[in-house]
Amino acid sequence: MPNTPPKLTRTVDELRAALAEVRRAGKTVGLVPTMGALHEGHLSLVRASKVECDFTVVTIFVNPSQFAPTEDLDSYPRTFEADMQALTTCGAELVFAPADEEVYCSGHDTWVEVGGVAEPLEGECRPAFFRGVATVVLKLFNMARADVAFFGQKDYQQAQVIKQMVRDLNVPIEIRVCPIVRAPDGLAMSSRNAYLSSEARVRALVLWRSLRLAQDLVAAGERDAKAITEKMREVILTVEDAQVNYVTLADPETLQPVSRITGPTVAALAVRIEGTRLIDNHILTPVEAI
Ligand code: PAF
Repeated sequence: MPNTPPKLTRTVDELRAALAEVRRAGKTVGLVPTMGALHEGHLSLVRASKVECDFTVVTIFVNPSQFAPTEDLDSYPRTFEADMQALTTCGAELVFAPADEEVYCSGHDTWVEVGGVAEPLEGECRPAFFRGVATVVLKLFNMARADVAFFGQKDYQQAQVIKQMVRDLNVPIEIRVCPIVRAPDGLAMSSRNAYLSSEARVRALVLWRSLRLAQDLVAAGERDAKAITEKMREVILTVEDAQVNYVTLADPETLQPVSRITGPTVAALAVRIEGTRLIDNHILTPVEAI
């Protein structure tokens, strides 16, 4: 039998009224925050929520405060009908898709700033980004008051920033980070892949190729971070028009760069291909840490 479409709520009051009923029935609530333009990565989060929780809420909100004025807020893909279709197929029970004014009411002037873990990598390239993400995610947590929230490892630093915020501000929610979903050719699923021409999409495979190279080098015994990131850069720069924002090996908790690999390490990169900024990452585990 086909699934029924998720109930659509647009206001915080509607969301809370719908969830109050769910809680009265003793059910646990899973939250999947998204900006829409859903792909298999998002749907894997919905599936994880359905396995762990009795009731799954997906938020669809393109959060203006995490975009710098020079970034792609206006052109960010918006595919609401297709998103609702995909969420129906996955069996999500509720969608919260508020207007900007519902989330940022007039006079809104409170912001969440997470410390050190938000500073390197994305924090350096996109100075306003994590302030916007942490603020909207905390607001969504307060609006939905879910038991568990699901994020993708694709946005590795974002997940670490959210975990830090939840710890520091005693937010009563469990955070789950689910594995990156890749296309069969290795490209990490991302809503921004939609910007790539078919030729650029092929060139974008160099991100995963360079992460695999890092993995192979570590497996072959290389432990020097600079030697590994230089080889990764070399591979990336074989691709016409690739512009490297960063290629880093970092501590998986603090995101601070490491000079030697002595335990699990995150290889993280941000590269522009055909002008589209793509990020990806992979955990490198030396044999001695297995
Ligand atoms: O990862 C995203 O899609 C966004 O940064 C999030 C977590 C939904 C906040 O707007």
